[in-house]
Amino acid sequence: MAVRGAGPVRVLAVAGARPNFMKIAPLLRELRAREGFAARLVHTGQHYDTAMSESFFRDLGIPEPDANLGVGSGPHGRQTGQVLEKIEDLLQGERPDLVLVVGDVNSTLAAALAAVKLGIAVAHVEAGLRSGDRSMPEEINRLLTDQISDFLFTTEPAGAEHLLREGVPAEKIHFVGNVMIDSLQAHLERARRLDVLERLGLEPGKFGVLTLHRPSNVDEPARLQALFEVLEEIHQRLPIVFPVHPRTRDAIQDHLGGKSPQLRLTEPLGYLEFLRLLADAGLVLTDSGGIQEETTVLGVPCLTLRENTERPITVAEGTNTVVGTDPATIRAEALKVLDGERRPGRIPERWDGRAAERIVDVLEQAFRPGTGGRR
Ligand code: UD1
Repeated sequence: MAVRGAGPVRVLAVAGARPNFMKIAPLLRELRAREGFAARLVHTGQHYDTAMSESFFRDLGIPEPDANLGVGSGPHGRQTGQVLEKIEDLLQGERPDLVLVVGDVNSTLAAALAAVKLGIAVAHVEAGLRSGDRSMPEEINRLLTDQISDFLFTTEPAGAEHLLREGVPAEKIHFVGNVMIDSLQAHLERARRLDVLERLGLEPGKFGVLTLHRPSNVDEPARLQALFEVLEEIHQRLPIVFPVHPRTRDAIQDHLGGKSPQLRLTEPLGYLEFLRLLADAGLVLTDSGGIQEETTVLGVPCLTLRENTERPITVAEGTNTVVGTDPATIRAEALKVLDGERRPGRIPERWDGRAAERIVDVLEQAFRPGTGGRR
């Protein structure tokens, strides 16, 4: 890889879907604060609604993207292919020194693949996570992105173990912590000042939060119906707020004849409002990846409605329990929490709000050895 002489290291940061935005925000801020870097942001347009995209830019203070590829929704092949095609054009024009990708969405893989074929270095933030479940589209995106990345930034020790087993050279792997937690720490105080609880008539600790959007849960009518039934039961004891993801909204329409579950339904919430809800929830039920991490740091009990997790540290050290999708197990585990049974958690190593700083330190050493020093 080329070591840079004079002139800033040109980084193209890529974000496409909702879970990317809270990861890219601290990275972009850190890169732009350092003299040795010139960072530009491209939005692939994988998510495009105000509620799924624009509101996150606003809440997180992310500047307008320098380019928007406007790919939108579609089947996986077409969506991934469109990002690949459009970002290749952009990369050929811009010729950055590094493409920075985060997470495991289709945009992550497509951008990494376009870059590596043009001989541009790739950094993957949140590398090495593995659910072991190849029916998950994100698992395929993670495996492939990691194989073609030059810098692999991991959030937890399991990351390096997986990567080494898959033949990634140790010198490419850097355990830096969790950029998503950088964002959480930067914004928690502000989130706590919002009136979303009052607006929804909720009291701290006396409500649950549900998110559900994995294809394995929502695209299968019988599974979705069974999940909603047990969640409605839990809702009788603890009101459950359910911001409904667009995919799930469509699934309710298509598979359940538009019959919404008897929970407290809301539109998808912005980053700050959702963070406020999480921080004050008595129980969180989710099939998201990032929420398992956020609840771990917030010390809120989390039941993961999946058969596996790619984030084992949230179970080993945090407040997460992987309960699967069997209604009897979900009911039993939720009742334990409602009856006061709590596993004390601790915050994992390096989830301290400084992950972006460590990442840019590594890049600085690689591209501008000897320049050292921050800012
Ligand atoms: C994607 C990511 C997933 C991430 C999730 C967070 C992949 C493979 N999956 O899944 O890892 O957890 O985002 O939301 O990249 N839609 C809208 N407005 C939008 C975006 C989507 O209405 O702004 C609707 C469309 O009907 C679309 C559906 O939601 O077909 C699914 O969107 P898509 O981006 O394909 O996948 P997600 O399920 O959101």
